[in-house]
Amino acid sequence: MYSCLALFILVATSSICKGQNVFPKDPYIEVGSSINIVCQNNVQGKIYWTLNSERIDKSWPVTINSSHSVLSLLNFTHSSATLQCHSANTQVLGGTIIRTYTKPSNMSCILTDTIGDSWFMCTWEHQTDSSLKINYTVLCNSCSNLSEICNSQETSCKSKYADIAEEITFVGDFNVTVRAKHAAWEAFSEPQVFKLREILKINPPKLKVTAVSDHLLVEWKPTYKVQRKYRCQVKYSTAANESTPEVLNKNLAELENQGIVKIENVKSCSNYTVAVRCASESAPWSDWSQEETVLTKLNQSDVKLHLWRKVAEADENRVRKVRAMWAEIPSTCQETVTYTIKQTPYKQHMTGVDHMETSCDNSICDVNQDAHRINLKVFHNKSLFVEDSVYVPAIGERLPQVTNIQTSTFEGVILVSWKAPREPVSGYMIDYTHNGNIYSWKETKYTNTTLFDLLDKKPYNITVTPLFDDKTGHSTQAHQICSNVGDPGDFTNVNVQAKHKSAFVSWSVKSQEACRGAVVNYIIFYSTQDGPQLNVTVDNTTQHISLKDLNPNTQYSVYVKAIAHTGTTKSSERLFETKRFDPALITALSVCGSILIVLVLSVGLCCAIQWKRFQEKPIPNPGNSSLGLWRPTAHDQGIWRFQPLSYPHQNIFNVADPVEVQRTSISPLTPGCHDNPASDQTVEYTDPVLVTAPDIQSEDSVERKETQHPSPPEESTELLSSEGGPLSPYRSQSSVETAPRTSKPCKSVSLKQPDKTPPVTIYVTLDMFE
Ligand SMILES: *[C@@H]1O[C@H](CO)[C@@H](O)[C@H](O)[C@H]1NC(C)=O
Ligand SMILES: *[C@@H]1O[C@H](CO)[C@@H](O)[C@H](O)[C@H]1NC(C)=O
Ligand SMILES: *[C@@H]1O[C@H](CO)[C@@H](O)[C@H](O)[C@H]1NC(C)=O
Ligand SMILES: *[C@@H]1O[C@H](CO)[C@@H](O)[C@H](O)[C@H]1NC(C)=O
Ligand SMILES: *[C@@H]1O[C@H](CO)[C@@H](O)[C@H](O)[C@H]1NC(C)=O
Ligand SMILES: *[C@@H]1O[C@H](CO)[C@@H](O)[C@H](O)[C@H]1NC(C)=O
Ligand SMILES: *[C@@H]1O[C@H](CO)[C@@H](O)[C@H](O)[C@H]1NC(C)=O
Ligand SMILES: *[C@@H]1O[C@H](CO)[C@@H](O)[C@H](O)[C@H]1NC(C)=O
Ligand SMILES: *[C@@H]1O[C@H](CO)[C@@H](O)[C@H](O)[C@H]1NC(C)=O
Ligand SMILES: *[C@@H]1O[C@H](CO)[C@@H](O)[C@H](O)[C@H]1NC(C)=O
Ligand SMILES: *[C@@H]1O[C@H](CO)[C@@H](O)[C@H](O)[C@H]1NC(C)=O
Ligand SMILES: *[C@@H]1O[C@H](CO)[C@@H](O)[C@H](O)[C@H]1NC(C)=O
Repeated sequence: MYSCLALFILVATSSICKGQNVFPKDPYIEVGSSINIVCQNNVQGKIYWTLNSERIDKSWPVTINSSHSVLSLLNFTHSSATLQCHSANTQVLGGTIIRTYTKPSNMSCILTDTIGDSWFMCTWEHQTDSSLKINYTVLCNSCSNLSEICNSQETSCKSKYADIAEEITFVGDFNVTVRAKHAAWEAFSEPQVFKLREILKINPPKLKVTAVSDHLLVEWKPTYKVQRKYRCQVKYSTAANESTPEVLNKNLAELENQGIVKIENVKSCSNYTVAVRCASESAPWSDWSQEETVLTKLNQSDVKLHLWRKVAEADENRVRKVRAMWAEIPSTCQETVTYTIKQTPYKQHMTGVDHMETSCDNSICDVNQDAHRINLKVFHNKSLFVEDSVYVPAIGERLPQVTNIQTSTFEGVILVSWKAPREPVSGYMIDYTHNGNIYSWKETKYTNTTLFDLLDKKPYNITVTPLFDDKTGHSTQAHQICSNVGDPGDFTNVNVQAKHKSAFVSWSVKSQEACRGAVVNYIIFYSTQDGPQLNVTVDNTTQHISLKDLNPNTQYSVYVKAIAHTGTTKSSERLFETKRFDPALITALSVCGSILIVLVLSVGLCCAIQWKRFQEKPIPNPGNSSLGLWRPTAHDQGIWRFQPLSYPHQNIFNVADPVEVQRTSISPLTPGCHDNPASDQTVEYTDPVLVTAPDIQSEDSVERKETQHPSPPEESTELLSSEGGPLSPYRSQSSVETAPRTSKPCKSVSLKQPDKTPPVTIYVTLDMFE
């Protein structure tokens, strides 16, 4: 591809330059080297040169004779450049492209001694276009007749040492060069000499680590056969500082074929990771050996029992329960240890150990009123490993104690300070608990301390006890203090009573929870489903509120927030719906309604009484009669008869129902007109007479439905006119009644009547009846 490109440029250039006037054509030169370029000028006159289209100044010498111009490029460092020679009238006489290449450099070789095989490996650097395909060869100058050691197309290569060993044994050193070969050029690195013992990278040593009582023993052996001087390094780390391992150096003499190192001051019961590497004199380091991890043993000097005790109030027998507490040996230790707690009466200047020692039950000792010592012994493999003891003062013993304990909290830690007793003390023991079962304790020399690692929002009881050389003073307890104060207590319930335009909201919060923040005020948030959120703030003495100006018949949601200096607590959200009507309005309405009913009833009663009076009158009242046109042909039976009002259920206002009158005589002939007066129910009509007019049957049924209700009283008078006709001549108010309407019900005619019959005007005044 590259040659294609070169060909293309060549063709292009030759087309620009008329004829092959410039030599050499497209040379490759080593960067920094020099070259002479010749331009043949048949044309007479001055000639000048351009490099990448820029005219070359005097920095490069040009020699000119009659037919040639020679440009000397010294120390040429361009990676690629186009050089052209021009005649005085700027005509291009010819050109060439000059490219440079670099030599491989910074070669380094090592001889690795991997298991089974030894390898001679070299690396070098070569600044070149990475797309160029270059074949590298490492050449051995000092070898007798093996010149090529290895080939590669990368900047490293290796060869089995066995293949070249024979060649170099005579020489002892490697004198090597690397050759870079490209299609157009070839470059050699500077020759470099490597001494065998300086490039020998040995195998990583074999390592063995053992945990001894208080240290680690590291042993290793270099694996190279040849006895040499070695320098070695041991690195070790715990899981905690894996990234910053400690390193120990150790040199091995020529005949010393094993390294031993002790790692001291190791932490008890911790995993240590150890690795080692070696190098022969100035040769490169071997790789690190495989890492070995060992668990260190429990070291007696690391065991700090921190024995302490908590003395309870004496019971009626003056027996006190003393709880012993100590720091147990970490569970990461694989050693099995046993603890024993015993108590001995304390006697000053006691000599010997033959005093009565009594066992305690687990960590609880029953101690009488006298002073005692609590002894803790730790056994490992049935032998005493460590022991400790602590003093329990007698009841009423005159001992100093601290005063004026001050406590405060700051970001989850408790600061405690106190006033020292007058007597000199060796220190103070501070113990603290949040539940009476789990105790923490710490010692200080100062009259203050900071308690860390506390549980969140727990009330702590803190006790300070002064310590003397072999005794303790009396304890003083501080006021209970919370590790930190949290949100206010949770809401227990939120109740809402909704009204028409207001709602009464009440709530309560869990009271008296330790370490809860004191409520400063409550904020009630409420809103409709899509309305803006409104809020009302009340102070901490109020636990209810009436929300005003609500919209009737609307759903609202409400919740309450308790605000304390230390946080807020939000209640759950409650939904409620305001009432559609004002209950007061409903009450007013119902009162009015009742009054109205009473009024109506009393009026009715009045009327009934009136009617009763009237009934008692022997003479009928014409005012109670219907009016009809008197027919001359009327029978006796058709004569208006007075119908006494004898149905108790009848409407008292319908004092003279003409229909009723009519019914008495014609009810069999007009069944569709009215219902049975005895019951106001719908009646199915099956009278055959009715069915005689099939053409109007359907219409009839419709009509009938409309007449199913008892006719109102005012309609009754109208009915009289409709029933006019041959069948009931005495009721007709019209003399020109049209076709007989036997099957037609009477009622609905009332409105149509005026259209069908010319109106007959009859004037009746009430006075007439009176
Ligand atoms: C001019 O110089 C070129 C190259 O140096 C040489 O070949 C040529 O013979 C010289 N011509 C004359 C006339 O000296
Ligand atoms: C070649 O150029 C480089 C940098 O441009 C310079 O350091 C070096 O001395 C030069 N060599 C010669 C022989 O001029
Ligand atoms: C030569 O290589 C080594 C590492 O192989 C490197 O530290 C050094 O910088 C290199 N020197 C040059 C001149 O590139
Ligand atoms: C290494 O080999 C080269 C090429 O044969 C030679 O010029 C050079 O002097 C040698 N160097 C040494 C130190 O033998
Ligand atoms: C080196 O040359 C010697 C004789 O010149 C020859 O016998 C030997 O085989 C050669 N070694 C290799 C590896 O070519
Ligand atoms: C590089 O080596 C390969 C095979 O070893 C060969 O085919 C190729 O021609 C070589 N290239 C050059 C530029 O020598
Ligand atoms: C781990 O780091 C601590 C503190 O940086 C240091 O005291 C200790 O010696 C280190 N331990 C090891 C094994 O390197
Ligand atoms: C030590 O390492 C072993 C195995 O890697 C592991 O089981 C053990 O828990 C570790 N012990 C400690 C104290 O880290
Ligand atoms: C803390 O001390 C008080 C008296 O100061 C006591 O009533 C309470 O029981 C103690 N609480 C615990 C957990 O010991
Ligand atoms: C405790 O007291 C000492 C000396 O009075 C003082 O330097 C130190 O800051 C105090 N520490 C705390 C936590 O108050
Ligand atoms: C109400 O808050 C005030 C401080 O704003 C506080 O002093 C008072 O104790 C609180 N009352 C109750 C009952 O929490
Ligand atoms: C209460 O409502 C007012 C506007 O009515 C608003 O400015 C304020 O931020 C609200 N308070 C809270 C705590 O949301």
